[in-house]
Amino acid sequence: MDNQNSHTPKSIHGTWSSRWTFILAATGSAVGLGNIWKFPYIAGENGGGAFVLVYLLCIAIVGIPIMMAEVFLGRNARRNPVNAVEVFTRQSGASHNWRYIGVMGVIAGLLIMSFYSVVAGWALHYVFASISGTFTDISAAGSDAFFGGLLGDPKALLGWHSTFTLMTFIIVASGVSKGLGAVAKYMMPFLFLALAVLLVYGFLAGNFKAGVMFLFTPNFSALTGDSILIAMGHAFFTLSLGMGAIMAYGAYMPSSANIGKTILTVGILDTLVALVAGLAIFPIVFANPTIEVGAGPGLLFVSLPIAFGSMPLGLLIGTLFFALVAVAAWSSAVSLIEPAIAWLIENKGWKRIKAAGIVAGCCWLLGLLTVASFGPLAEFKPAWLLYFTPFDFFDFLTSQIMLPLGGVLIALLVAWKAPAALLQKEFGFKSQKTQTLLLFLLRFVSPTLVLLIMAIKLFETLSQLGA
Ligand code: PHE
Repeated sequence: MDNQNSHTPKSIHGTWSSRWTFILAATGSAVGLGNIWKFPYIAGENGGGAFVLVYLLCIAIVGIPIMMAEVFLGRNARRNPVNAVEVFTRQSGASHNWRYIGVMGVIAGLLIMSFYSVVAGWALHYVFASISGTFTDISAAGSDAFFGGLLGDPKALLGWHSTFTLMTFIIVASGVSKGLGAVAKYMMPFLFLALAVLLVYGFLAGNFKAGVMFLFTPNFSALTGDSILIAMGHAFFTLSLGMGAIMAYGAYMPSSANIGKTILTVGILDTLVALVAGLAIFPIVFANPTIEVGAGPGLLFVSLPIAFGSMPLGLLIGTLFFALVAVAAWSSAVSLIEPAIAWLIENKGWKRIKAAGIVAGCCWLLGLLTVASFGPLAEFKPAWLLYFTPFDFFDFLTSQIMLPLGGVLIALLVAWKAPAALLQKEFGFKSQKTQTLLLFLLRFVSPTLVLLIMAIKLFETLSQLGA
């Protein structure tokens, strides 16, 4: 398919050199801490199989269609998310107010970045711990204590949070093709390789069968309104949806690339990485009774060092692995703040370096609240933060509220308002059936599911309050 069109405006930020660069960059955004750190631990906390099933369903029927809608808006306008939505409202006659989806997305990106960089900082710390041999022959209890020690050390957390924020700043400040494109192209393939090595280790040395059973045997009694909402929210988080990251990347996508096929590839790659991460981690968890499946955010950081500590070449592989986790987080972080930066450049006329500096600085400041959530604010769970610590609150607010809402609004806008000619131009549908299916999913299925899931959770919370 080739829908090269001379009317398509060029992005002032540049364009990816090819469809594959887009795939790698979008996969770089999608594959991150969400897949390797968050997915295993929330699956662990929410009973495994049934949760995983809900997550996979959400990816397939809600996430991937919305991802296509986002890329559609981005590439159609070749502008930052706020302006992309605005351009579309003009083309389609929709209300100007839809552009607030873009504004909410920009804010969500900054909120996510604030805690994302703290967690990515843990991975950086682990790179150095691993290379210095800390994990050699470490026991499960020792590994647990090591992670606890890191959380209890605000100076270390702060240092790594700052380092990671600075790394992200450097890439976004260097611009789209030099900065973002390069990271994606060279780093992503290594991550896939390292995960494959861990998978083999889990198979040979861990309790692989128990891991597989946990992830893939659905026990529906473990599902609550809460866990369904977490699974759905995670589908948005892991695909970088609902906040404009993928829309911003879509703005740099070559006109000749087919949106449908390209996004399907990204969605499948992202899901595979999450499942392989789960299959690498759970066999180790089940082989070590001292590690709890529901250990929470520390699961990855407690379980894997045990594997590295006891496997041949563990020092090397462990170091490589945590470096790759940091890189995966890095290429995602870049996309978390790119919408805000592109907006400042286009609308305020700022230089890229200034925009990147201010945005990264704000996220860094906000991140102090997450750092403090593991120290002085660990018990600070006021009612107005819904009894969460600031870290948990930002996570909840973004992945379970802002991203799904943003995503649904994007779905509704595109599916109900897009002029047929525009859809045809960007998607280049070959068959009417594909178009009908996509529009049906976007118009009815995603909004119903997302709102229903939110309603179930709200109902559950209210009835608990009443009880
Ligand atoms: N998808 C990223 C991950 O899984 C996180 C992310 C969310 C990135 C939203 C950009 C936008 O780690």
